Amino acid sequence: MKAPIFQQWCFLLLLMAEFAIGKLFFEPYNVTYDHRSLIIAGRRRMIISAGIHYPRATPQMWPDLIAKAKDGGVDVIETYTFWNGHEPVRGEYNFEGRYDLVKFAKLVGSSGLYFFLRIGPYVCAEWNFGGFPVWLRDIPGIEFRTDNAPFKEEMQRFMTKIVNLMLEEKLFSWQGGPIILLQIENEYGDVENSYGKKGRDYINWAANMAVGLGAGVPWVMCKQTDAPEFIIDTCNGYYCDGFKPNSDKKPAFWTENWDGWYTTWGGSLPHRPVEDLAFAVARFFQRGGSLQNYYMYFGGTNFGRSAGGPFYITSYDYDAPIDEYGLLSQPKWGHLKDLHAAIRLCEPALVAVDSPRYVKLGPMQEAHVYHKGGNGRRPISDSGDESRCSAFLANIDQHNVASVHFQGHIYTLPPWSVSILPDCRNVAYNTAKVGAQTSVKELEPQAPHLSNTPVVQNLLHQDAASFISEKWETVNEPVGVWSDYNFTAQGILDHLNVTKDSSDYLWYFTRIYISGEDVSFWKKNGVHPNLTIDSMRDVVHIYVNGELAGSGVGRWVQVIQPVELLEGYNEVALLSLTVGLQNYGPFLEKDGGGFRGQIKLTGLEEGDMDLTNSSWIYQVGLKGEMQEIYTINGNEKAAWVDLTTNKVRYPLRWYKTYFDVFDGLDPVALDFSSMGKGQAWVNGHHIGRFWTLPSSQDGCERSCDYRGKYDSSKCTTNCGKPTQVRYHVPRSWLQESDNLLVVFEETGGNPFEISLTSHYTQIICASISESHYPPLSRWLNHGSVDGQILINDTTPEMHLHCEDEHVISIVFASYGTPEGSCPKFSRGSCHAPRSFDVVSGFCQGRQTCSIRVSNSEFNDPCRRVSKTLAVEAKCIPSRVTGSSSI
Ligand SMILES: *[C@@H]1O[C@H](CO)[C@@H](O)[C@H](O)[C@H]1NC(C)=O
Ligand SMILES: *[C@@H]1O[C@H](CO)[C@@H](O)[C@H](O)[C@H]1NC(C)=O
Ligand SMILES: *[C@@H]1O[C@H](CO)[C@@H](O)[C@H](O)[C@H]1NC(C)=O
Ligand SMILES: *[C@@H]1O[C@H](CO)[C@@H](O)[C@H](O)[C@H]1NC(C)=O
Ligand SMILES: *[C@@H]1O[C@H](CO)[C@@H](O)[C@H](O)[C@H]1NC(C)=O
Ligand SMILES: *[C@@H]1O[C@H](CO)[C@@H](O)[C@H](O)[C@H]1NC(C)=O
Repeated sequence: MKAPIFQQWCFLLLLMAEFAIGKLFFEPYNVTYDHRSLIIAGRRRMIISAGIHYPRATPQMWPDLIAKAKDGGVDVIETYTFWNGHEPVRGEYNFEGRYDLVKFAKLVGSSGLYFFLRIGPYVCAEWNFGGFPVWLRDIPGIEFRTDNAPFKEEMQRFMTKIVNLMLEEKLFSWQGGPIILLQIENEYGDVENSYGKKGRDYINWAANMAVGLGAGVPWVMCKQTDAPEFIIDTCNGYYCDGFKPNSDKKPAFWTENWDGWYTTWGGSLPHRPVEDLAFAVARFFQRGGSLQNYYMYFGGTNFGRSAGGPFYITSYDYDAPIDEYGLLSQPKWGHLKDLHAAIRLCEPALVAVDSPRYVKLGPMQEAHVYHKGGNGRRPISDSGDESRCSAFLANIDQHNVASVHFQGHIYTLPPWSVSILPDCRNVAYNTAKVGAQTSVKELEPQAPHLSNTPVVQNLLHQDAASFISEKWETVNEPVGVWSDYNFTAQGILDHLNVTKDSSDYLWYFTRIYISGEDVSFWKKNGVHPNLTIDSMRDVVHIYVNGELAGSGVGRWVQVIQPVELLEGYNEVALLSLTVGLQNYGPFLEKDGGGFRGQIKLTGLEEGDMDLTNSSWIYQVGLKGEMQEIYTINGNEKAAWVDLTTNKVRYPLRWYKTYFDVFDGLDPVALDFSSMGKGQAWVNGHHIGRFWTLPSSQDGCERSCDYRGKYDSSKCTTNCGKPTQVRYHVPRSWLQESDNLLVVFEETGGNPFEISLTSHYTQIICASISESHYPPLSRWLNHGSVDGQILINDTTPEMHLHCEDEHVISIVFASYGTPEGSCPKFSRGSCHAPRSFDVVSGFCQGRQTCSIRVSNSEFNDPCRRVSKTLAVEAKCIPSRVTGSSSI
């Protein structure tokens, strides 16, 4: 390279860097509100917001997640802050890596989206300890979330830290930044009664403290009916269309629309049908709501030990529109995208009036009409957007289709649905009619370095799982005390008081003397003594004389474990575990772990032997954990030996191997079906806790009906199977070859069967009738005339899309009266013979395609019959076919 060119480049780069530092994301603008909505830069706005928690993804994933939210028609990215991630040690702050809040906020701003920061700092969030640092418990005299001086001091210090950081980085709206809204506290209304007057005083203090921080944008409190005048109280829930804030000067905001749900180890997987979710959102805007936030738009992963609980699983997929791995969850994402476009079309009418006009259409049918000045019967002649008439037609009957008359036309409304009429005449969208494609993602085992070998297509579908390694090494984790960092105390100490959550693990160790008479007594009567623990959480593994006797699981449950004891001294070692600290409820600071009540040996001839006040030796953590043998530098500290057998499932074992990864963009997961319970690290990154605990056999319905009120027990799947067997390993934590995997196994597993899987959409399908509404994009392309939006091409369109590096291969297509549902269609009595050829012509070998659903494309196969196009396709790696996805 020639020097002058190089210098030019340097100069350019310097310029660009300077630009980046001094860059404003927007022209400075103010954010206020009235009773209708937020007012951004002087204009009322209807707002769609998307919850994405930055530490539940990697910084490398952030740009793509934000881009997918923007593409999905979102205006705002919302997140909590995570105090225990930002201040792991009091006064020592961490804003790096996954905790780089400033970088995340800037990415949001630079993509042209707004930012809604819910600081808390109590956040619940199914996050460890609700976001509180565990050291907060140790501040003398502290009581959380009440009128308590030590707590308020700490809370104010962290709030100030965050607001000042945002101020310094010029991230508030009036500084030209993306932040338009802030939240203080979180669902305090749920626990306020437990704190009496001190609770009410605390909320007033918190509100005043927050607005005193000088952020200069509005603050909200969610589920806080007694929020003061200057704070917007907001709704969280599955439905919020009936919500009214506590003052007629405040707008109706929905800070958490629960679009899915979380789950616990041993739980089934929740799913919220998108027809119901879209219904809830449409109803909210129909009845006067103006800001709605999806909790979550992307749920992600509880990496490390960040999962709350107790017992929340490592995946935080949440059945969100973007899945745990960062891929679109379809049809959820696409159907909501259409919904957002429909609401956007209505925005001029929605913001122009103070409240809608209500029209009763039937016993369980109603319309809300937004029309400034007009009587709503007929759009008035004025070409300005201000005069636009928009209407929402709802059928809240969850069983029956309804035909309703509205402004001289007849509309057919499916059960439990809302039709959106941006011009009070044409239906742009119905919440129950899904046009978006459905995606089926199977995590198939893949051979490492797939692309480096000449690939035949069936390699992708080989039956044998591809285990990541044939060579494993192992080392024992000692039972009981293993270091000089042990101490002895009389009696049972609280688990958290000892570990300070520096580890999940705490050993309680004692010796008990058993006489010859006791042993003969048991033998004579053919019984075993029991070790009885009055109350325990979350897990205990009971070792007697170095052998695992049994385990207990639960939250403050009794454990009765039969044990084998010998004459003389016996060693009792209890490995106590936390599996995510409590994140919800009052008095969190009092919520410890380990054992409560008595620990005793029952079934002795002379009566019970109480061990509660015995001398116990305490050992925090695991030896391998403290030596950091899961890191690239630390793993040599352990005396690893080759693992030769896969027959014996040893408890308390470390395993390690090195593995290669197939290249490409597809997200990667490790399959731990063959393991028991423990934790795992890849190249030193803690990918989370794993546990193959199966969920209960029953509770999953055979089919899922979107109609009627949703709750988290509806439409669940995966009953009878382990709740989670696949664990996301972000691409940025991996290199092509020789990745170090270290697994700690508590109960026993077979590492030889750990496999690597790739995650991508393998099958897509869609079904659209010829009477479906036309693509929303066609509306956007037309201006309004006489208050009506002109749309002269009403032909519906099917859109199909495969992820990057994948192309469409059509499997089935039928225009006519196809039967079955996605992804199992079959031809009906009416079928256009050209179906397959037409669809293939548009789609085969492409990443994205669209097909017009009309007789003119397919030739009418059966007159006077309502026809539907159903398509199923595979997404195949573009490398395999040799075609390019670009
Ligand atoms: C925002 O409001 C402040 C205080 O009312 C005012 O000084 C400032 O000029 C406004 N900024 C913009 C961009 O309107
Ligand atoms: C426990 O700690 C003491 C000193 O604190 C030490 O002497 C003893 O060896 C330790 N026990 C084990 C098993 O390491
Ligand atoms: C834990 O320690 C705190 C003091 O830091 C004490 O008040 C509390 O009683 C302890 N909990 C238990 C269960 O011993
Ligand atoms: C130990 O507990 C089991 C289960 O509660 C009980 O059936 C058994 O009788 C107990 N053993 C003795 C020796 O008390
Ligand atoms: C254990 O010690 C505590 C405090 O010293 C005492 O209150 C309790 O009665 C003792 N329990 C037994 C079973 O001796
Ligand atoms: C639809 O309307 C546009 C402009 O309003 C016009 O240019 C176009 O020809 C019309 N198309 C049809 C099929 O009528």
